[in-house]
Amino acid sequence: MSNPASPPAVGVVVDRPPLTFPPGFLWGAATAAYQIEGAAAEGGRTPSIWDTFSHTPGRVVEGHTGDVACDHYHRLGSDVALMAELGLKSYRFSVSWPRVQPGGTGPANAEGLDFYRRLVDELLGHGIEPWLTLYHWDLPQPLEDVGGWPARDTAARFADYATLVADALGDRVRYWTTLNEPWCSAFLGYGSGVHAPGRSDGADAVRAGHHLMLGHGLAVQALRAARPTAEVGVTVNLYPVTPASEAPADVDAARRIDGLANRFFLDPLLRGSYPADLMADLAKVTDFGHVRDGDLATISTPLDVVGVNYYSRHVVAAPDPDAEPEPYWRAPSCWPGSEDVRFVTRGVPVTDMNWEIDAPGLVETLRRVHEEYTDLPLYVTENGSAFVDEVVDGQVDDADRLAYFDAHLRAAHEAIEAGVPLRGYFAWSLMDNFEWAWGYTKRFGMVHVDYDSQVRIPKSSARWYAEVIRRNGLAAQ
Ligand code: FCB
Repeated sequence: MSNPASPPAVGVVVDRPPLTFPPGFLWGAATAAYQIEGAAAEGGRTPSIWDTFSHTPGRVVEGHTGDVACDHYHRLGSDVALMAELGLKSYRFSVSWPRVQPGGTGPANAEGLDFYRRLVDELLGHGIEPWLTLYHWDLPQPLEDVGGWPARDTAARFADYATLVADALGDRVRYWTTLNEPWCSAFLGYGSGVHAPGRSDGADAVRAGHHLMLGHGLAVQALRAARPTAEVGVTVNLYPVTPASEAPADVDAARRIDGLANRFFLDPLLRGSYPADLMADLAKVTDFGHVRDGDLATISTPLDVVGVNYYSRHVVAAPDPDAEPEPYWRAPSCWPGSEDVRFVTRGVPVTDMNWEIDAPGLVETLRRVHEEYTDLPLYVTENGSAFVDEVVDGQVDDADRLAYFDAHLRAAHEAIEAGVPLRGYFAWSLMDNFEWAWGYTKRFGMVHVDYDSQVRIPKSSARWYAEVIRRNGLAAQ
């Protein structure tokens, strides 16, 4: 495969030098079970909250569901062959809880586990390191019916599930992530309700966040008991939060949103405490009575690695007392206690999600985690962009996505040069897939998927990424 990026025109200053990453840098791509597997009712799988949610009219754009998705369940052989063709060193996937433990309690479903065993064996057979995420948002529906993540018992159920998966796959999987993006599960699932299970109650969102982290801590302990050699981590989605101006009220708005978006998770997980200012901000939402003695020690059980998902930056301003309330203010918020903070757009280029493209924010984010929180190895477990793609003569030339990856990989390299122990990078996503509340309308893949025929076409960005992996770095541009 050749590098499709065209050479600079004569006279253009070549200002982007070649960059080489450290030896052994783990180049990967990521997906998640509900977003790609399909086979929603096959092999003993029962519904998760995302099945229920997506089948509820009005919840997902155009009524899309994950019933079929990319049909990966039936195509794992050819999908892994494609990964090998791209030269991936690692593949991050998630296990569907209701596929391997239908209902979320009780014995394992052998057929479900067998699917993941075949996937892992296929990966290992191609020299691709499997990276397993236990929870990428698909809580078994019966556990939601008895309270979901706002209920403490769900944390214990999650640890049982972790043991069951570790017993089955621990002999062949080295890297384990407990949770993917607990902020989304808690604050989009139970706060704004734009994600499953679609509930909107600030106090429930805060409780859910705590119990997700408690479940994480218990699962880390369960994984270590089942598999002492496992490398265990968690993946958080982090944003630099910047005040729109230096005015103290804007700076305070940024402090509040940073508290809810980042420190709500980083502090308990890596320091064993909730930030005092965040607890004060949330005082009118909850008294934190759900936090029991010992919880924070469990939550901060030592890890081996930390995963960071990075997409964009938040720029925020103080509430405007004179402004007419925007509809968004009246809608249930994913920022309990800080509902009226304004999110400002700067007019910089955005992706098809309307997320501002901000590669320097990745450097800031990685440096912050390393400099303020931990010396542990870090991995970018997701980074990527949605753009509108066009298939022309059987090709997809996604120059904008390629440029996004290029800029963020340069940022990742800058972070390494600044001393961050960044050990790997996973592009989101291997292939186009079910983008949650946006259904199939947003494409993040390096590989294009035609959802009618299930034909996969590697886009220009995939060919380019293969070349990046091959040379362990970036060519000059
Ligand atoms: C992250 C999710 C992932 C995908 C990307 C675009 O928040 O972890 O599943 O939806 O965003």
